[in-house]
Amino acid sequence: MEKFKNYINGQWVDAVSGKVFQNINPANQEDIIGEFALSAQADVDNAVEAAKAAYEQWRLVPAPKRGDLLRKAGDIFNRRKKELACIMTREMGKPTFETEGDVQEAIDTAYYAASETRRLFGHTVPSEMDNKMNLSFRVPIGVVGVITAWNFPIAVPSWKILPAIAAGNTIVFKPSKDAPHSGVIFAEIMQEAGFPKGVFNVLLGTGSMGDMIVKHPDVKVIGFTGSTEIGCKIAEICGRLNKRVSLEMGGKNAQIVMDDANLELALEGALWGAFGTTGQRCTATSRLIVHKDVYETFLNMLKQRTEKLKIGDGLVAGTDMGPVIHMKSLENCERIVKVALSEGGRLISGGKRCTASDLQKGCFFEPTIIADVDQTHTIFNEEVFGPVLCVAKADSFEHALQLQNHCEYGLSGSIYTKDVNKAWVAAREIQTGICYINAPTIGAEAHMPFGGVKGTGNGHREGGWTAFDIFTEWKTVYFDYSDKLQRAQIDNY
Ligand code: UN1
Repeated sequence: MEKFKNYINGQWVDAVSGKVFQNINPANQEDIIGEFALSAQADVDNAVEAAKAAYEQWRLVPAPKRGDLLRKAGDIFNRRKKELACIMTREMGKPTFETEGDVQEAIDTAYYAASETRRLFGHTVPSEMDNKMNLSFRVPIGVVGVITAWNFPIAVPSWKILPAIAAGNTIVFKPSKDAPHSGVIFAEIMQEAGFPKGVFNVLLGTGSMGDMIVKHPDVKVIGFTGSTEIGCKIAEICGRLNKRVSLEMGGKNAQIVMDDANLELALEGALWGAFGTTGQRCTATSRLIVHKDVYETFLNMLKQRTEKLKIGDGLVAGTDMGPVIHMKSLENCERIVKVALSEGGRLISGGKRCTASDLQKGCFFEPTIIADVDQTHTIFNEEVFGPVLCVAKADSFEHALQLQNHCEYGLSGSIYTKDVNKAWVAAREIQTGICYINAPTIGAEAHMPFGGVKGTGNGHREGGWTAFDIFTEWKTVYFDYSDKLQRAQIDNY
């Protein structure tokens, strides 16, 4: 069986304990992808030590030179895009057209971060004194711990890793235990791009090792994508240790369909938003809010199209939707459907695991639609992370907005309407970090701020220029060339 190692200080190494874990293909659980190093405290210590030592030189490399290497990494991601997409699909399930998009997000992020190394703008500000100039500019922070989920195994790590490196930090990256091979490839690409040893390190392993990264005193910043439960625990630890932490957590995103919407367009959006990545995006559409005048019509349209979706192995051309990540997740889909029906939901499509003979070895769940739910129902409130969409009826525009905002999370929201006034009101009123007009809740672009409000995040935004707010501190410099003591707030007043 193929064995995969950690990447520490420019070397491929086994876990100090020699222990390994296995990962399997969710489309065929008999397909074991390989054995991966099972890291523990000694490995974390080694990786952090390497990253800490590398930081002392890396922070002094001129930013545009750091950008040159990032551009190379982007080129290599591009060259390996198709091959990498197949590796990702085999370990996490989504069809290859989606994993190719996932890699494209990393390419975009690499080029964006590289170009930002020639800006990283600061401020030059007049002083209140004579012969004095004030400046403020960004400086790196140190070792950044990156902990991510499996659903975007290349894109989401890239949003954190590449800007952090551009800004002069060094990295200890823990990919998800369900997508470790993607983490290994990330390291191969950074190695080939020529980053100095220790700038980028990968530790394979499980959640307990992530906890060790968070608690390590030499890790100064944590970038986390995952569940709200784990994210909040990390935030507590970081609060006690006075570490900066950026959290990207759960979602329960809603698409509103108004009576004046282009229903065909809204249908395409709902299908892509709900069943793209098998509903396993933090941006996935898991609630649909449909105006009463088009409610039954839209449900019929949805049912017909949903039942035509081709479910299967994401490596097979023509597959629309792959498996969920593992059996536990499939069982969770079964549970939530049962609860939803017992609370008064009406089953429109799907609702059970797939039984076709070619799907039996995998974790396949039917694309599922449950209508007639209201805001008191469990399924309207609980994040599922699977292909289960619930639908609620709205009596009016105001009611639709109220339902949209009845949510403990706040990542992404959408509205389909032709009324430009309603669209602008919705853009203002929808309580999310990201809002789409006449587009589904998924589809964020790498150069735009990404993140959520309420239970989704803690005020940070990844993507684009805002990522640099996470991975830099501001240094303010007062440059006094008056040759005398000038007392601020006193001498000139
Ligand atoms: C995620 O699910 O963690 O906007 C990220 C989107 C993708 C990123 C999703 N570009 O759906």
